[in-house]
Amino acid sequence: MQTATKTVREIAIELPQATRVFEKLGIDYCCGGNRSLEEACESANLSLNEVLQALEREAAPPSDGEVNWESASLRDIIQHIVAKHHAYVKSEAPRLQQLAAKVSSKHGEKHPELLEIREVFDGLAGELASHLMKEEQILFPYVVEMEAGRSRGASCFGTVQNPIRMMTMEHDSAGEALRQLKQASHGYQAPADACVSYQTFYRALAEFEADLHQHIHLENNLLFPRAVAMEAARR
Ligand SMILES: [Fe+2]
Ligand SMILES: [Fe+2]
Repeated sequence: MQTATKTVREIAIELPQATRVFEKLGIDYCCGGNRSLEEACESANLSLNEVLQALEREAAPPSDGEVNWESASLRDIIQHIVAKHHAYVKSEAPRLQQLAAKVSSKHGEKHPELLEIREVFDGLAGELASHLMKEEQILFPYVVEMEAGRSRGASCFGTVQNPIRMMTMEHDSAGEALRQLKQASHGYQAPADACVSYQTFYRALAEFEADLHQHIHLENNLLFPRAVAMEAARR
């Protein structure tokens, strides 16, 4: 029962495979991961025992795709985030925007939620484009330099906590957009009369959500706290 009192984010860090269970059950492990598993189950109306059993089933050693990032260097975590998650957003967001435009213009009259989904997704895609650029051009290079011992925290933004606070706020805003998308699409369930593009769009949106959750989790729960601690130790 020890797991029940750990926070969702602690479990996600210790057991990367747990994020699959959380994703499937709709337990927030990235922006809202700071509550105990017990509380998270209660607010999501889930049986704690069933969730614990599902976690136990996933407790096998991480597979190839699921590295335990807790002990990796910050540089490796950053390289992984950029190569996997940033590259994914950059290719997938424009494709989804096109799909949203197509599906909403065809079916928006009968399914007005598609117009809302298109608007929210366009906003999210725009925010993410500038967010990724700030991470790649400012925050990440700074962290890599700091880890390599080539900077001592003296930088244009004072302390690394400043850009991290800003990035975390932007993550919260992205998390809010994902919640709106999920709600408006009824959990990405396409209606019975949906055409192939409509179904493809919803499936791709669900994948986009899962990837962004993983992405934000790695930054909020692993990379950022370690960068803050490293800076404090070196000053
Ligand atoms: Fe990122
Ligand atoms: Fe980010």
